[in-house]
Amino acid sequence: MFKKILVPVDGSAPAWRAMDTARNLAETYHADLVIVHVVQGLSTRGLIVNGMDISVKNDNVNSTKIGNMILDTAKDRLKGFPGKVEYDMEFGDAAEKIMDDARDKSVSAIVVGRRGLSGVEEFLLGSVSSRLVQYADIPVMVVK
Ligand SMILES: Nc1ncnc2c1ncn2[C@@H]1O[C@H](COP(=O)(O)OP(=O)(O)OP(=O)(O)O)[C@@H](O)[C@H]1O
Ligand SMILES: [Mg+2]
Repeated sequence: MFKKILVPVDGSAPAWRAMDTARNLAETYHADLVIVHVVQGLSTRGLIVNGMDISVKNDNVNSTKIGNMILDTAKDRLKGFPGKVEYDMEFGDAAEKIMDDARDKSVSAIVVGRRGLSGVEEFLLGSVSSRLVQYADIPVMVVK
């Protein structure tokens, strides 16, 4: 049942915990991993500072750099993993892109962190994990 496991990572502690759990599962079931980071960009369209519109400068360039750092960190943490690992960077809405990727790559399950970078204490699930649980058509494991 677990041939290929997808882990979406945003660089947060819960996402790394999810990745560690997915690694254990993958080792047990001899599965491959797909690690995905979705660059959401900052909503800075029309951001004007000191009379200058800095929306473009502040946009996907920085987020892509950070995305690469997150994927490099994932690579580091997965050193010694015996199966195959694919690393993916996508752009757009995180939950949608994660589900598209899972479909395109015929993934059998998603392992996700309960919360992410925003980590608002009062919510049990973040919006990305909660949308995955509700709308993905494959099993989703939420790591607490
Ligand atoms: N941009 C992203 N790319 C890849 N995975 C993500 C991304 N954002 C969130 N995730 C995954 O979803 C999990 C839950 O994060 P989520 O964004 O839902 O919570 P949050 O940041 O606490 O709240 P919110 O973003 O809704 O304000 C993360 O641990 C990670 O596994
Ligand atoms: Mg988030």
